[in-house]
Amino acid sequence: MSSPTVPAFTVLGTGSRAPERVVTNDELAKTVDTSDEWIHSRTGIRERRLAGDDDSITHLAVAAARAALADAGLEPAAIDLLIVATCTPDLPMPATATLVQAELGLPAATTCFDLNAACTGFVYAFDTAWALLASGRHRHALVIGAEKMSTVLDWNDRTTCVLFGDGAGAVVLGPAPAGSGIVATKLGAIPGTRDLLLIPGGGSTPLAPGAPRHLQMKGREVFKFAVRAMDEVSRELLASRGLTPADVALVVPHQANLRIIHAIAEYLGLPYDRFFANVDRYGNTSAASIPLALDEACRAGRLRRGDLVLLVAFGAGLTYGGALVRW
Ligand code: COA
Repeated sequence: MSSPTVPAFTVLGTGSRAPERVVTNDELAKTVDTSDEWIHSRTGIRERRLAGDDDSITHLAVAAARAALADAGLEPAAIDLLIVATCTPDLPMPATATLVQAELGLPAATTCFDLNAACTGFVYAFDTAWALLASGRHRHALVIGAEKMSTVLDWNDRTTCVLFGDGAGAVVLGPAPAGSGIVATKLGAIPGTRDLLLIPGGGSTPLAPGAPRHLQMKGREVFKFAVRAMDEVSRELLASRGLTPADVALVVPHQANLRIIHAIAEYLGLPYDRFFANVDRYGNTSAASIPLALDEACRAGRLRRGDLVLLVAFGAGLTYGGALVRW
């Protein structure tokens, strides 16, 4: 029995934008009880970009999207699906995607929505966009990860504020040239892990007066989950297509901690030079981290036509996910 042929879709262009303000570990150490030595040795982070009041999520997302459209050689009018992955939207409503749509001048018939899977948000949005493209209802998608994590941090809490940064990254997905295309995706979430990583304030749940409302994390537990989940989902994804880690030319993992990236390399049995990392310069930009890293990897010439690329992430939820792309 023959199955209907699903056309192939892939990444046609990438773009990114980070705020201009660079904040080094030494600068942070002036206001928080920490040091460059502690932060760098535990996380690999040297500096991060922090947004000012003028750098809204919309502003960062639009700049990243324009760069991705230019890279793809497409006009905004070609886009009919826009997903913004973020857990720090400009407003609870309307969706950031509609604000980005207006600034980019996308057609009224564009499907626009935000998606929150925290640091796994970009991979969730990538999978969703692929499914909608494959359904035949859309032709070209803009998938953006954009975050202003600086707004949800307690800048007196050294255990969290040193880890994160702000930024945006975008990809354009569309019909793939022969031989390339998205190969497989896989998503998941572990029930009952709410309290390991959360922002307790800002939603509709009332908070007791004086209760903390900033990002909270049980770092050690999250670390262990990150390594295990990214290793497992990577292996499952590859096995689902009869592939092994050795087939992967480049892994672009969520940029949370260089030690986590080194651990996954070890678990997968891959040399570290098959990984792309820029966490040293941006910190953890949550949903923006993979598209920001993917864009830098492309511009650095790390991806060649035909390469098998693995995107893999974890985040609050706890969520996890991966995507395999034949470049
Ligand atoms: N500067 C100096 N000391 C710090 C510090 C900082 N910024 N943050 C924590 N410390 C201290 C702690 O207070 C603790 O001191 P104590 O032993 O006197 O109690 C000590 O350093 C060790 O803390 P610990 O939390 O055990 O360190 P760690 O080696 O586990 O590293 C993380 C902490 C957060 C870097 C690490 O657990 C991690 O990266 N976890 C994953 C987080 C993550 O990826 N989050 C994003 C999810 S998308």
